[in-house]
Amino acid sequence: MKPKVYLTRKITPEALDMISEVAEIKLWTGELAIPCETLLEQVKDIDGLLCLLNDKVDAPIMDAAPRLKVISNCAVGYDNIDIAEATKRGILVGNTPGVLSETTADFAFALLMAAARRVAEADKYTRRGLWQVAWEPMLLLGQDIHHSTLGIVGLGRIGIEVARRAKGFQMHVLYHNRTRREDAERELGVEYVATLLELLSRSDSVSLHVPLTEDTKGMIGPIEFSMMKPTSILVNTSRGQVVDQKALYKALKSGQIAAAAIDVTEVEPIPMDDPLFTLENIIITPHMASASTATRTKIAIMAAANLIAGLQGKMLPNCVNPEVFNRALG
Ligand code: DGY
Repeated sequence: MKPKVYLTRKITPEALDMISEVAEIKLWTGELAIPCETLLEQVKDIDGLLCLLNDKVDAPIMDAAPRLKVISNCAVGYDNIDIAEATKRGILVGNTPGVLSETTADFAFALLMAAARRVAEADKYTRRGLWQVAWEPMLLLGQDIHHSTLGIVGLGRIGIEVARRAKGFQMHVLYHNRTRREDAERELGVEYVATLLELLSRSDSVSLHVPLTEDTKGMIGPIEFSMMKPTSILVNTSRGQVVDQKALYKALKSGQIAAAAIDVTEVEPIPMDDPLFTLENIIITPHMASASTATRTKIAIMAAANLIAGLQGKMLPNCVNPEVFNRALG
């Protein structure tokens, strides 16, 4: 008998085919995300779960799934999964690092460029029929990105790719990271800055690339905004909760910083009555930094490979808690 798996969303056909060869698939087909109570019900007899970053997989879900061997997250970030609880129960957890770094970095750069050069605002301006003078010298003036200073917070796989792109624009790149990356300093000429506050005060734009953990939650708040330049641009493609969103609103409204472009918000989807929507100097996109056809296909295939390996009692190609496997080996 084939093992049973539950998928909280339909994924690319190549990945579905891979899974259906080895497992019996049940799938959530609702338009919105699967409700927690439905997931609780559906996991009762499954051996594997393939989930998204918006599915909270915590102790109650794991308790409801006594046969669960593997949780495969369709994302590199795994803050939606209680890893300690999974590890305690001997459940392997997989994620999808690497395949999305360049695509996400492209998008972080697109957001930076769009905010600096007011692309979203300009598009609205044209559509509203406000373009009256063919070439208006003072219209929609923005900021140059080339030769400016970019501060990267978190120089992991994605942060490095952002630095690589910044170099093409002859930017000076500062970075702040838990550990110093002398390899990146040599390769890309990036400059290590020991404190976040120093990085914020010296940067013309700041791009966030840290995972969401207890240490990074709210890491950009009122004090941090007060250190940034009034011309500064904040880009966030990491996790919404890394930024204190009320403080972001105040910083944008008061002119403490010039603009922001965020792909992630504290609550997702962001409620339509959020005060951020009253501001012109922010771009908000729907958590889509990795959304190229090629990359989303690679993510799904990698997640499928993790799921299948876990079902077959093998080490996952990308495992967040390898100690579970090593412990089982004994
Ligand atoms: C991730 O993988 O963690 C991104 O946020 C979505 O691609």
